[in-house]
Amino acid sequence: MKKILFMSSIALTHGEINEQRAFLAKFLQLYKNGYSVLGFDELNVFFNVNMVRHFAQENFIFNKLLQYGRLDEKFTRIVKDSIEEHEVFLDEFRQLAATADKIKRGEEEITLELLKKYELVAWALTKHAQLEDVVIFEEVAARLGDKICASIDEELKKL
Ligand SMILES: [Fe+2]
Repeated sequence: MKKILFMSSIALTHGEINEQRAFLAKFLQLYKNGYSVLGFDELNVFFNVNMVRHFAQENFIFNKLLQYGRLDEKFTRIVKDSIEEHEVFLDEFRQLAATADKIKRGEEEITLELLKKYELVAWALTKHAQLEDVVIFEEVAARLGDKICASIDEELKKL
Protein backbone atom coordinates (compact mmCIF):
# COMPACT_ATOMS: atom_id res chain seq x y z
CA MET A 1 0.00 0.00 0.00
CA LYS A 2 1.26 3.47 -0.87
CA LYS A 3 1.51 5.79 2.07
CA ILE A 4 1.06 9.35 0.99
CA LEU A 5 -0.13 11.51 3.82
CA PHE A 6 -0.73 14.65 1.83
CA MET A 7 -3.44 12.99 -0.24
CA SER A 8 -5.64 12.55 2.83
CA SER A 9 -4.82 16.00 4.14
CA ILE A 10 -5.90 17.54 0.81
CA ALA A 11 -9.04 15.37 0.72
CA LEU A 12 -9.91 16.48 4.25
CA THR A 13 -9.64 20.16 3.37
CA HIS A 14 -11.65 19.69 0.18
CA GLY A 15 -14.33 18.08 2.35
CA GLU A 16 -14.25 21.13 4.62
CA ILE A 17 -14.75 23.38 1.59
CA ASN A 18 -17.92 21.46 0.79
CA GLU A 19 -19.10 21.80 4.37
CA GLN A 20 -18.35 25.50 4.39
CA ARG A 21 -20.42 25.95 1.24
CA ALA A 22 -23.32 24.01 2.80
CA PHE A 23 -23.04 26.03 6.05
CA LEU A 24 -23.11 29.28 4.10
CA ALA A 25 -26.27 28.25 2.26
CA LYS A 26 -27.87 27.52 5.64
CA PHE A 27 -26.58 30.77 7.21
CA LEU A 28 -28.00 32.71 4.32
CA GLN A 29 -31.40 31.08 4.78
CA LEU A 30 -31.32 31.62 8.54
CA TYR A 31 -30.31 35.25 8.12
CA LYS A 32 -33.12 35.82 5.63
CA ASN A 33 -35.52 34.38 8.21
CA GLY A 34 -34.32 36.87 10.78
CA TYR A 35 -31.87 34.74 12.76
CA SER A 36 -28.38 35.78 13.75
CA VAL A 37 -25.65 33.69 12.16
CA LEU A 38 -21.99 33.09 12.88
CA GLY A 39 -19.92 36.24 12.65
CA PHE A 40 -17.65 37.00 9.74
CA ASP A 41 -14.61 36.44 11.97
CA GLU A 42 -15.28 32.71 11.98
CA LEU A 43 -15.76 32.67 8.21
CA ASN A 44 -12.56 34.61 7.74
CA VAL A 45 -10.54 32.13 9.75
CA PHE A 46 -11.56 29.49 7.24
CA PHE A 47 -10.97 31.59 4.14
CA ASN A 48 -8.01 33.69 5.24
CA VAL A 49 -6.11 31.26 7.45
CA ASN A 50 -7.05 27.66 6.59
CA MET A 51 -7.30 28.24 2.84
CA VAL A 52 -4.07 30.23 2.73
CA ARG A 53 -2.26 27.20 4.15
CA HIS A 54 -4.14 24.79 1.88
CA PHE A 55 -3.22 26.75 -1.25
CA ALA A 56 0.40 26.96 -0.12
CA GLN A 57 0.46 23.16 0.22
CA GLU A 58 -1.19 22.63 -3.14
CA ASN A 59 1.10 25.07 -4.89
CA PHE A 60 4.05 23.18 -3.46
CA ILE A 61 2.67 19.84 -4.75
CA PHE A 62 1.68 21.31 -8.12
CA ASN A 63 5.11 22.83 -8.63
CA LYS A 64 6.66 19.40 -8.02
CA LEU A 65 4.24 18.02 -10.57
CA LEU A 66 5.29 20.66 -13.10
CA GLN A 67 8.93 19.94 -12.37
CA TYR A 68 8.96 16.13 -12.27
CA GLY A 69 5.59 14.95 -13.63
CA ARG A 70 6.48 14.85 -17.34
CA LEU A 71 3.21 16.60 -18.11
CA ASP A 72 2.02 17.30 -21.61
CA GLU A 73 1.06 20.81 -22.66
CA LYS A 74 -2.62 20.40 -21.78
CA PHE A 75 -1.99 19.00 -18.32
CA THR A 76 0.66 21.65 -17.67
CA ARG A 77 -1.92 24.34 -18.49
CA ILE A 78 -4.48 22.83 -16.10
CA VAL A 79 -1.98 22.74 -13.24
CA LYS A 80 -0.76 26.28 -13.89
CA ASP A 81 -4.36 27.53 -14.13
CA SER A 82 -5.12 26.00 -10.76
CA ILE A 83 -2.10 27.76 -9.20
CA GLU A 84 -3.20 31.06 -10.75
CA GLU A 85 -6.77 30.58 -9.53
CA HIS A 86 -5.42 30.25 -5.98
CA GLU A 87 -4.10 33.81 -6.23
CA VAL A 88 -7.45 35.07 -7.53
CA PHE A 89 -9.26 33.34 -4.67
CA LEU A 90 -6.87 34.74 -2.07
CA ASP A 91 -7.49 38.20 -3.42
CA GLU A 92 -11.26 37.68 -3.21
CA PHE A 93 -10.98 36.33 0.35
CA ARG A 94 -8.99 39.39 1.42
CA GLN A 95 -11.56 41.71 -0.14
CA LEU A 96 -14.42 39.90 1.60
CA ALA A 97 -12.63 40.16 4.95
CA ALA A 98 -11.95 43.86 4.38
CA THR A 99 -15.63 44.48 3.63
CA ALA A 100 -16.69 42.41 6.65
CA ASP A 101 -14.42 44.53 8.87
CA LYS A 102 -16.27 47.69 7.84
CA ILE A 103 -19.77 46.38 8.52
CA LYS A 104 -21.39 47.67 11.65
CA ARG A 105 -24.02 45.87 13.68
CA GLY A 106 -27.51 46.39 12.36
CA GLU A 107 -26.49 46.94 8.74
CA GLU A 108 -28.68 44.08 7.69
CA GLU A 109 -28.86 44.63 3.96
CA ILE A 110 -25.10 44.94 3.56
CA THR A 111 -24.62 41.88 5.77
CA LEU A 112 -27.01 39.91 3.58
CA GLU A 113 -25.22 40.99 0.41
CA LEU A 114 -21.87 40.02 1.90
CA LEU A 115 -23.16 36.63 3.01
CA LYS A 116 -24.33 36.05 -0.56
CA LYS A 117 -20.83 36.90 -1.82
CA TYR A 118 -19.27 34.46 0.64
CA GLU A 119 -21.65 31.78 -0.57
CA LEU A 120 -20.80 32.47 -4.21
CA VAL A 121 -17.10 32.29 -3.55
CA ALA A 122 -17.59 29.06 -1.62
CA TRP A 123 -19.41 27.61 -4.66
CA ALA A 124 -16.58 28.63 -6.96
CA LEU A 125 -14.08 27.15 -4.53
CA THR A 126 -16.02 23.87 -4.47
CA LYS A 127 -15.88 23.65 -8.27
CA HIS A 128 -12.18 24.47 -8.22
CA ALA A 129 -11.49 21.73 -5.64
CA GLN A 130 -13.57 19.18 -7.59
CA LEU A 131 -11.55 19.79 -10.72
CA GLU A 132 -8.32 19.44 -8.78
CA ASP A 133 -9.56 16.15 -7.31
CA VAL A 134 -10.78 14.64 -10.55
CA VAL A 135 -8.09 15.85 -12.93
CA ILE A 136 -4.94 16.62 -10.94
CA PHE A 137 -4.85 14.61 -7.72
CA GLU A 138 -5.94 11.42 -9.50
CA GLU A 139 -2.60 11.57 -11.30
CA VAL A 140 -0.25 12.88 -8.64
CA ALA A 141 0.96 9.61 -7.12
CA ALA A 142 1.50 7.86 -10.45
CA ARG A 143 3.30 10.80 -12.04
CA LEU A 144 5.58 11.67 -9.14
CA GLY A 145 6.40 8.23 -7.78
CA ASP A 146 6.85 7.12 -4.18
CA LYS A 147 10.16 8.81 -3.49
CA ILE A 148 9.10 12.33 -4.47
CA CYS A 149 5.71 11.88 -2.78
CA ALA A 150 7.46 10.86 0.45
CA SER A 151 9.68 13.94 0.25
CA ILE A 152 6.60 16.13 -0.30
CA ASP A 153 5.09 14.70 2.88
CA GLU A 154 8.19 15.79 4.78
CA GLU A 155 8.28 19.26 3.22
CA LEU A 156 4.58 19.95 3.78
CA LYS A 157 5.00 19.49 7.52
CA LYS A 158 7.03 22.69 7.46
CA LEU A 159 4.42 24.78 5.64
FE1 LIG B 1 -7.57 22.53 -3.30
